[in-house]
Order: sequence, then C-alpha cells, then structure tokens
Amino acid sequence: MGNKVIQVFDTTLRDGEQVPGAQLNTLEKIEVAQALERLGVNVIEAGFPVSSPMDFQSVSEICKVVKTPTICALTRAVEKDIDVAADSLKHARYPRIHTGIGTSPYHIQYKLNSTREEILERAVKAVRYARQYVEDVQFYAEDAGRTDNDFLARVVEAVIDAGASVVNIPDTTGYTLPAVFGEKINYLYDHVPNVDKARISVHCHNDLGMATANTVSGIINGAGQVEVTMNGVGERAGNTSLEEVVMTLESHSDLHFDTSIQTEQIYETSRLVSRLMRMPVQANKAIVGRNAFAHSSGIHQDGVLKHRENYEIIDPKTVGVPENSMVLTARSGRAAFRHRMKKLGVTVNGDLLEGYYQKFLEIADKQKQVNDDHLLAIVADEHQSNEAYLKLRSLDVTCGNNKDAVVNLQVEVEQEVQHAEATGNGPIDAAFKAVKQIVHNGYSLDEFLVQAITGGSDDIGKVHVQLEKDKKLYYGFGSDTDIITASVKALLDAVGKLI
Ligand code: KIV
Ligand code: ZN
Repeated sequence: MGNKVIQVFDTTLRDGEQVPGAQLNTLEKIEVAQALERLGVNVIEAGFPVSSPMDFQSVSEICKVVKTPTICALTRAVEKDIDVAADSLKHARYPRIHTGIGTSPYHIQYKLNSTREEILERAVKAVRYARQYVEDVQFYAEDAGRTDNDFLARVVEAVIDAGASVVNIPDTTGYTLPAVFGEKINYLYDHVPNVDKARISVHCHNDLGMATANTVSGIINGAGQVEVTMNGVGERAGNTSLEEVVMTLESHSDLHFDTSIQTEQIYETSRLVSRLMRMPVQANKAIVGRNAFAHSSGIHQDGVLKHRENYEIIDPKTVGVPENSMVLTARSGRAAFRHRMKKLGVTVNGDLLEGYYQKFLEIADKQKQVNDDHLLAIVADEHQSNEAYLKLRSLDVTCGNNKDAVVNLQVEVEQEVQHAEATGNGPIDAAFKAVKQIVHNGYSLDEFLVQAITGGSDDIGKVHVQLEKDKKLYYGFGSDTDIITASVKALLDAVGKLI
C-alpha cells in the first residue's frame, strides 16, 4: 500500500496575517500566494473577504493569478459573509468557502449566547447556504479542542450531511495535549457514521508550544488535511508551522505519509514571508532558523564532518538552505549577489537590484563578510526608504557622558523638508522628541528593540519599534550601521503607517 497523501492547507494569508503589524498589501499577498503555489500547497486560505475591502480585493486578485491550488475564503456562519466570500472567489479555478461557528461551551454561552441545538442549526444552514455557490465547502467547529467529543461528533455528522467536503477541527486556544487531540480525531472516525464522505482537517495553535505535536497526532489518528502557516506565524504564539509538519512527515518515513510540498522551496518561502511580514525568524526556529543547521561545538563539527547524519537528521539542501560556507564579501559580483538574493526570496532586477547591490558594497567595505541577515536588512531598509511616507534627510547628534544629548534632524514629509531640534537624556530620546515636533499624532512608544546582526562593533543595527494609538498597534523597522539613524528610521516607518 502506498503512503497516504496529506493535504496542506496554508493559512499564512488569513490566520497568519492576523498578527498585529504583519499586514500585507494586495501585491505582497499575491507574491506570497505565488510562492505558496511553487511550494506545492494544496489549498491557500487567501483571506476573510467580508472583513475589509482590501481583504476582498486580495482574495479576488489571488484567484486570478494562482492556478493550481484551491483558493479558500473564510466566513462566519452568516449569510452576508458567505455572499461576499462567494463573490471574491468568482475567478478561482478551484474555489472553497470556509464557514463555521464556535462549538465549545465557552463560545456557545459567552460568545454567542446560544444553545447547542441553535448552533447545530446555524452550522447546517451555513453549509447549505455556501453549497449554493460552490461545491467545495469546508466547515470549522471553532474551539473544537475544548468541545465535548459527543457534541462535536453530532456537529460533524450534521455538516457532512449538509454538504461539507472538509471539516476542520481547530484547537483554537492551543490548550489541548497531543494525546488528547489525537483521541478526539480518533473519536470522530469511530462515532461519525458518514465521516468517510468528508476529509477531517486539523488546525492547531501554539499557545503551549504543542501545535506541531498536536497536528502530527491528528494525522496519525486519521486527519487528511493540515492547516499551517509559513514560519508558524499567527496570532499570539502562532499557528502550526508548515515546515515543521512537512519535515516531520518526511523524516519519519515509517509513518507512511506524504505531502505535495517541494521541500527545497521551504527556505526561500520562509524568508519571503519573514521579509514581507517584517517578522524575523527566531535563530533557533526548527528547519528555517539561522542556527537550525549550524554546528558550533567542536565535537559536533567534527562529528558532522565525519558523517553528516551523526548530528543532522535533515540534509539542509532538502529544505533549500543555502550552503553555510557561502558568505558574500566586497569582491562578490552581481551574479553571486543576485543568486543569493533569490535564495532569500528577493527576486528583483534592473535598477532596484543595482541599488541593493551598491548598498551591499558599502556594507561589505565596512565589514569582512556579509551574511543573509545583513542582506535582508539592506532590502528591508531600501524598500522602506523608497516607499516611505516620512523620509529621514539628515541627522546630527551631539552627546557625551557629561551633557544632554542634542539632535538636529530633517524629515521629508510629502516632498517638503521639515527641521527640528531637541534635547534628551540620550541621543535616542532627543531624536524621538525631535520627530515628535514634526509629526505628533498622540501615539505612545510601546516597544523599542535594538539588535546587532552578528555582534561586531562595525555591524548593522536593526531596530523594531511598536507604537500605540487608540488601542491599535503600529510597527516600524529601520536598519543602519549608525544605531541612532536606524532608530529614527524605525520610528518614522511606524509613524508613517499611523498617519
Ligand atoms: O483558530 C481557529 O479556530 C480559526 C478558525 C476561524 C478556523 O482560525
Ligand atoms: Zn486559527
């Protein structure tokens, strides 16, 4: 008997994109969707069309350019949502509507102020309504992780009878333990008489760090579809990470599961999502983190050199990780630079590529070696200065240990250069006060994070800031070898978004 093929449902553009500050515009979403198509996912959940005109437009545009995967749109169990989702999917070759409702006691009582019988009725009605538009309807039982198995089985049976082709069992709060989640899936296979007429899908969150374990446990117990995001991005602690589940199934061939994922595309897709969402991948992230294949202790290095599998369970090449040895220097030519950029998910040509290359040469002149993080910082920074609403034109700083810091700066706002001067208890404080003189929109600074890329004193600094206004969060990023400049760029990036 051949391996069972597990369907990969990617929700980077829907659940993943709900992360504050990680929102993508339509063009960026199309770029991610095309990368997901190359990666080989079966379904792309492209958005929640009723939530905003921009979400609607993104789903609709993705349908026009993506050919192979099914395109899915999320709705509540509400007719208006379903109407809008169906409209957004009208150009899709393979459209799917994903509708659903909360089924746990928490959701029924405190969120929906309803009863089990009413929820069952609404679930069935929503599936039937969606079936008028498309053949492929997926139902989600929100907070299924905390839903009694017997009631969940009744819901699953009813929605399959109503025409659902896929039933999603989400562990919405990331509360469930792997064995318990696996038993839940097993229970459904044992107690839902028509379960063979639909595919069971698992959708886990990582609040207790168990999303991948729960998902794999769901697969072992019969689930035929996994709902995942690239790099595990998603609200709170995130969703199940695509690369972790896919590589777990690849590594454990004894489990006899396959997916259609082109694993050598994983690294490139991961970097693209990280860059566009401005969400750095943690260094020790499984599969795609900077250190995932870096062996630093002498014993491990020696062991890997003798036989790679002594310390590596995955060959980095199988997930498209570029050779560790390939670092760029000031002598690297444009071809090597373009090749490396492509590996990092940056496919640009012409003037844009030349601009990045010149910036790279500047950095390479100051440093001996330029690694992937430096390159990504260059791209993020250049992208920002081309697109920015507020552009830093000049910055002068006077500071020292026995005096107040004084900052003079010039910022271009809609082609007009404005000047400000401020003092502060340090250069960053003074610079931020000067920016406030030019644009003060009543925001507060919630978070300010400075990181050096490699740790050398000649390094590029990366700065992330988070502003808050009217309970909404705005993120900004800046990078430069001068840390004050990087900080001001990050602040202007965030303030620009707020405006
Ligand atoms: O986590 C969840 O329950 C969800 C549903 C909307 C599918 O994302
Ligand atoms: Zn979710």
